[in-house]
Amino acid sequence: MDNTSQILERSAELFSGQRLLLVNPAADTLTRSLAADWTLWSWDFSVAHGLANQLPADKLVFSHLCPAVDALDAAILVMPKAIERAEYALAQMAPLLAAGKPLYLVGEKKGGVTRAERLLSQFGARPEKLDSARHCQLWRVVVDRVAKPFNLQDWQQHYTLELADQKIDLLSLPGVFSHGRLDEGSELLLEEHSALRGKVLDFGCGSGVLSIALARRNPDCQFELVDVDALAIYCAEQSLKLNDVEAQVYASDGLSEVHGRYTSVISNPPFHTGIRQDTSIAERFFSQVTRNLQPRGELRIVANGFLRYPPLIEQHIGPCQVLRENNRFKVYSAVVPG
Ligand SMILES: C[S@@+](CC[C@H](N)C(=O)[O-])C[C@H]1O[C@@H](n2cnc3c(N)ncnc32)[C@H](O)[C@@H]1O
Repeated sequence: MDNTSQILERSAELFSGQRLLLVNPAADTLTRSLAADWTLWSWDFSVAHGLANQLPADKLVFSHLCPAVDALDAAILVMPKAIERAEYALAQMAPLLAAGKPLYLVGEKKGGVTRAERLLSQFGARPEKLDSARHCQLWRVVVDRVAKPFNLQDWQQHYTLELADQKIDLLSLPGVFSHGRLDEGSELLLEEHSALRGKVLDFGCGSGVLSIALARRNPDCQFELVDVDALAIYCAEQSLKLNDVEAQVYASDGLSEVHGRYTSVISNPPFHTGIRQDTSIAERFFSQVTRNLQPRGELRIVANGFLRYPPLIEQHIGPCQVLRENNRFKVYSAVVPG
């Protein structure tokens, strides 16, 4: 079990038999080993998918919004990697708790749980640290009044990007890459104007910026966008609408739900996930993407120049060409042999 689940299990006397909301859970067996009336909210498709056989569908919600659970005894947030995502989640959880009910925060010390006191203090006086073990801490605050209702509009950020050839309106939510601005790598990828053809897959779409810009330049292409994060999916859908671009958007863990074959696959692949530097998602993506590329299909990605992706791309797809580069990023293209 994840360290955060182990520390919750150690405090089973606080939770057993209660009606609980657990937010941002790990994909492990906590809800089996700690008997309670659990409702889980995850925005991570890989976690929701991993837990699907453990809970009935109405008790496991994959969404950008928290399920409205009534008569809760307590709510528990597992600290997300982005602090603004923690604030977004707590703002939805707290109004579900009656005055006098506890709100818990659990997380790894390296993962920012040390900010628990500040995060929790807006919902009640004197948050307390209950336990510290396995590099994790468990915090609690007793909610002293019903918190103000959550309003999604207050958390949505609208912004406009001005590219050389077009303006793009984007909608973003906390923790969606790259909240409120254009990533430098994505910008370099968009400086590459060579044409795309046919069906295009945007892997790890975030708020949808790549597909929107490229769909406008390549109006005959059909775009599909995937991401593991429910907030990214929501933002991409909304951003596509704002820009009158039609495309299909769906959740996928890597290419798990991607069954089509594409003429082009574009991506700014995820590279930091969680506290540690991690390229495993990108590596898995390179090894599997050939299944989804048509003969002569192109993989076009941008990545930090120091990441040793070209040998992997050549191993799985084909000769890897650098289309563009600056002092930090490189745009690579590889074409599957015909
Ligand atoms: C570097 S961001 C790029 C976002 C967007 N394409 C852009 O250029 O602004 C990588 C994206 O990959 C998503 N991601 C991370 N792990 C993933 C996975 N296992 N499967 C699918 N998408 C994933 C992240 O949620 C994030 O939106």
